Amino acid sequence: MTTRIIPVEDFDLVIFGATGDLSQRKLLPALFHRDEQGQIPPGACIIGTSRRAMSNEEFRNFAAAAIDSHAKFMKATPEVVERFLNRLSYTAAEATQDEGWIGLEKELADRKDVVRVFYLAVAPELFGDICGRLGQHHLVTPKSRVVVEKPLGKDGASAEALNDAIGKVFQEPAIYRIDHYLGKETVQNLMALRFANVLFEPVWNHNYVDHVQITVAETLGVEGRAGYYDTSGALRDMVQNHLLQLLCLTVMEPPSSLDANAVRDEKLKVLKSLRPMTGERLQSHIVRGQYRAGASSQGPVAGYLDELGNPVSTTETFVALKAEVGSWRWNGTPFYLRTGKRLPQRVSEIVVQFRDIPHNVFGRAAGPTMPNQLVIRLQPDEGVKLDIMIKDPGPGGMRLTHVPLDMSFRESFNVRNPDAYERLLMDVVRGNQTLFMRRDEVAAAWAWVDPILDHWKAAQDAPKAYTSGTWGPAASVALIERDGRTWHDGGA
Ligand code: BG6
Repeated sequence: MTTRIIPVEDFDLVIFGATGDLSQRKLLPALFHRDEQGQIPPGACIIGTSRRAMSNEEFRNFAAAAIDSHAKFMKATPEVVERFLNRLSYTAAEATQDEGWIGLEKELADRKDVVRVFYLAVAPELFGDICGRLGQHHLVTPKSRVVVEKPLGKDGASAEALNDAIGKVFQEPAIYRIDHYLGKETVQNLMALRFANVLFEPVWNHNYVDHVQITVAETLGVEGRAGYYDTSGALRDMVQNHLLQLLCLTVMEPPSSLDANAVRDEKLKVLKSLRPMTGERLQSHIVRGQYRAGASSQGPVAGYLDELGNPVSTTETFVALKAEVGSWRWNGTPFYLRTGKRLPQRVSEIVVQFRDIPHNVFGRAAGPTMPNQLVIRLQPDEGVKLDIMIKDPGPGGMRLTHVPLDMSFRESFNVRNPDAYERLLMDVVRGNQTLFMRRDEVAAAWAWVDPILDHWKAAQDAPKAYTSGTWGPAASVALIERDGRTWHDGGA
């Protein structure tokens, strides 16, 4: 198996918030990997900017340390690292003041014709200021793009305001709203599996699919991000974007092509066909939790409130919910979504549970049949597993057993899967928006989430406590068991 590297055209990438956490952990290592692989052309420049005064040399040292700690599978020679570091420069600029912007103008002055990417790795409150100043300083060229991170806003109204502020300076085709889950290898594989095989599509509907589970479980707590996280919570941080996007890709009709708008039109239809989380559903279809002290694989860990130093926070670190899609294809098939921090395993997966066979011709002696199950694993071990029934091998009559057809992409192909940011950053340079969220998608996702947020805000009860290292509050198990189903694997 060989990897194919298609170099992108020349570009300037300006990272706002270049000394922050996202830049350090994800952006700089991702760019380095693409450079190491030969995808970045010799003339491409990366310009870091933030409020902090820093020399080019200091920024390069910062980047070198970021690569050292966060670039995975590092095999690069010192020359390759040096080549990457030489692309970097730094200019301090204040998002809310004019200070420093002339420096940025100078850096970019001679390169008006190359692709220009502005990556806003800063708090959303600064998006409007930065875009405004990019406009005032005439930095937005016809080949300019802006990249913003999720969650976009805190609710539908604030997302609209942010989109308006960005939209004053950038047209929709130049706005790249990142949801890094869309850049994960297996998410792409979900599309390949569905639309490059004839096998699944005929049974991909409520007649054959009993239910679907989407789990994104993390073992980590909120780490150093408690300040941000406490204003967000799992619903805004994970469900409104990552989990709903996975749901869209699982559920959507086949698009006519992989063209960005063809795919996003189909995803939008899914978001709009979700049955509203209102009325009785707010009681019966959703559970929120918050972790208490317990254990992780690293040993004992503190509870969320202690980490935060605020004994009364009602921010949820866990959500489980049942979503329903009102469409001919999916009517009657529930979608159980769950995500949380400090769960026992790091696992992201989509489980498609098919219905049982309509009639058993084998008789009791053959043993029970198990319904087919397709598990699409996003992480940690990316792959696809399909449980099927076969005859128990050897003599002894007709007895049935179920076996997994299990394919680990790592073992089968022995290639390094690029980090989601590597793919997404190169897509921005290429001008391919297929894996980015369109404004109306973000609005539709908030429209579904907003009633839940309003309900929680008005509710007197706090999130249900769960011990760190367990699968969330007991109510999450009850949510699915009430329907006669169980969470996949360790989940119950
Ligand atoms: C981010 C969330 O978008 O995704 C984090 O803000 C979360 O809270 C992270 O930890 C999970 O991403 P991944 O790729 O590690 O599953």
